Amino acid sequence: MARKIIIDTDPGQDDAVAILLALTSPEVEVLGITAVAGNVPLELTAKNARIVCELAGRPDVKVFAGCDRPLRHTLVTAEHVHGKTGLDGPKLADPVMPLRPEHAVDFIIDTLRAEPTGTVTLCPLGPLTNIATAFEKAPDIVGKVQEIVLMGGAYFQVGNITPAAEFNIYVDPEAADIVFKSGRPITVMPLDVTHKALTTAPRVQAFRDLGSKAGTMVAEWTDFFERFDKEKYGSAGAPLHDPCVIGYLIQPDLFQGRHVNVEIETQSDLTRGMTVADWWGVTDRAKNAMFMGDLDADGFFALLVERIGRL
Ligand code: BDR
Ligand code: CA
Repeated sequence: MARKIIIDTDPGQDDAVAILLALTSPEVEVLGITAVAGNVPLELTAKNARIVCELAGRPDVKVFAGCDRPLRHTLVTAEHVHGKTGLDGPKLADPVMPLRPEHAVDFIIDTLRAEPTGTVTLCPLGPLTNIATAFEKAPDIVGKVQEIVLMGGAYFQVGNITPAAEFNIYVDPEAADIVFKSGRPITVMPLDVTHKALTTAPRVQAFRDLGSKAGTMVAEWTDFFERFDKEKYGSAGAPLHDPCVIGYLIQPDLFQGRHVNVEIETQSDLTRGMTVADWWGVTDRAKNAMFMGDLDADGFFALLVERIGRL
């Protein structure tokens, strides 16, 4: 049976590829997509999510707009990576499909209340504002969540937006703190994993060789954002962060990690948003997250190309 998921996202080219992967994979059933402010402001992330659904030929997918700013801090965006629209690269038409009128947070709450306990997985691909707000507003739903599989944080790779923090957690550390303290099973795709999911030239060519609109889009999105990352990291390609979340749900054996304690730094200006992961087990703090550290990158890209090839 397909696993029911809600994708909470701030597209973002890599979010877009994650959504395409989910919408082409029978292993998951996307109950809805909830947009949050992150890479670009909410108005754009809510629009971009719909552009991607239409590209997948799925205008029926429910898309909701959620929180337009983090719980406490001013919104920090990442146009320097993703471009002004968040999906810079190919030329994209405005979506025709409507945004649902309900607030994303209410959709998350209503869905978790309506579905049997332990059957809905949350897949956050951006700052955790929507998820934390739902947990605060309706504490009864927390125990109903099957699992939270998220992209965020880092241990060995430390940070990308500051020397100490990864972007999604940095933007809303208070929200991340609420989620990591929720007591639900959490699986984390940190930079330690996503920096191994590199868009090398042959991998991008494989998308282009699909000869389809979706294959070309993915290649052009990658061409756009990898310029920044290649320069920054001196690597052969850019990390394709967010699809790791969906890839894990489809083929978990591609990933390896450790069940550890993860705490979020919310106090220090210097290390705000740091994910303090007890990778070496040097504290007796309770283990609250499966923190991934490695992946079979070739297997992951083979999965991606095969699934995008279905479009
Ligand atoms: C994360 O930040 C965003 O820029 C990407 O979409 C990804 O979710 C990586 O740090
Ligand atoms: Ca994202």
